[in-house]
Amino acid sequence: MTTIEIDRASLRTSVAVSVRAPRVVRVALAGCGTVGASLVALIRRHQALFESRHGVRFELVRILVRDTAKDRGVALPRHLLTSSVDEFLLANADVVVEAIGGFDPAERVVRESLAAGRQVVTANKALIAAYGPALQALADAHGGSLQFEAAVGGGVPVVRTLRGELGGHGVRTITGILNGTTNFLLTALADGTRYADALTDAQAKGFAEADPSRDLQGLDAADKIRILAWLAWGVDPSTLAVRVEPLPADPEPAARAAAARHGVLKYLAGAVRGEDGTARAWVRPVIVPADHEFARVRDEENAVHIDSDSLGVLRLQGRGAGGNATASAVLGDLLEAARAVPAAAAAAA
Ligand SMILES: NC(=O)c1ccc[n+]([C@@H]2O[C@H](COP(=O)([O-])OP(=O)(O)OC[C@H]3O[C@@H](n4cnc5c(N)ncnc54)[C@H](OP(=O)(O)O)[C@@H]3O)[C@@H](O)[C@H]2O)c1
Repeated sequence: MTTIEIDRASLRTSVAVSVRAPRVVRVALAGCGTVGASLVALIRRHQALFESRHGVRFELVRILVRDTAKDRGVALPRHLLTSSVDEFLLANADVVVEAIGGFDPAERVVRESLAAGRQVVTANKALIAAYGPALQALADAHGGSLQFEAAVGGGVPVVRTLRGELGGHGVRTITGILNGTTNFLLTALADGTRYADALTDAQAKGFAEADPSRDLQGLDAADKIRILAWLAWGVDPSTLAVRVEPLPADPEPAARAAAARHGVLKYLAGAVRGEDGTARAWVRPVIVPADHEFARVRDEENAVHIDSDSLGVLRLQGRGAGGNATASAVLGDLLEAARAVPAAAAAAA
């Protein structure tokens, strides 16, 4: 018979570690639509993992929406909901997540939260493209932080890559498929679907908004490439000129012409650093050869290739749109922001 000796001292130690109470990090969520509601569902689904692996328990303390009576597909305690920005900003929160989009009231939520020294997570590309450096300065001045992984590439971790690992590698060019809506539409056209049907399908699946004009005109991709150029080279994204060529109003003939040339029509964005340190950026439809890596990026996926002096070409690819993919990027930021919350502020559960 085998006897197993139990070392009681080490047992006591490991038990003590596993039962240590997680820190409670209070989260105020501005916007509970596609991204916000998916985030609430993800937090609930993975709460046990956050507690055991990261020692953090997220507690929702306020949720800002337009219509407090709307069904959001996730159960939300009514007392957390408010449609008043003033009331929302009074919430006793450690982290503020902005998932409203646009400028009003998202800009006020982000600015006032940063000015109050809070950690802020946002998915808002328009806001970061317009005011990223100023908002970062506000975060630095008041001891908070600004995370915006979901603003570019949906679930693809390109912001983190450029802010961190690639920061010192001398990025030369960035090229990619940065708009999930148009990639979904162009994939459907390449598969032989009519444009009107593809658009209806994209809207039904949540990959295109009711008014997709910012996507089709390249303005969404332009905001994203501005943000990436800022992260790579420090250029002010609001002043970086991007040459934007919209998709044709009906891209079907162009998609057919691409197929006739054994290629695939893709909507690409790019940026390049000039010898003099300036940057140039563009967004345009491009026929890529059928065996090119971008040709195999399908549906709502995004892909980014970053060419740098010391690393060569780094390739990132994954889901670029949709509630879950975007919310998972927000969640990564939320965990990062939770680490920055001073231990004194985050109470033990
Ligand atoms: N959806 C995606 O695939 C995706 C991908 C990447 C990044 N993003 C970014 O994520 C952010 C959120 O996008 P989304 O798709 O989740 O948008 P959405 O579904 O339209 O949700 C927006 C939310 O903000 C609330 N809201 C809007 N205006 C408001 C106001 N004046 N006062 C209070 N609340 C207000 C809405 O409240 P009601 O529900 O009551 O109307 C809704 O809950 C945007 O910055 C977007 O660019 C989205």
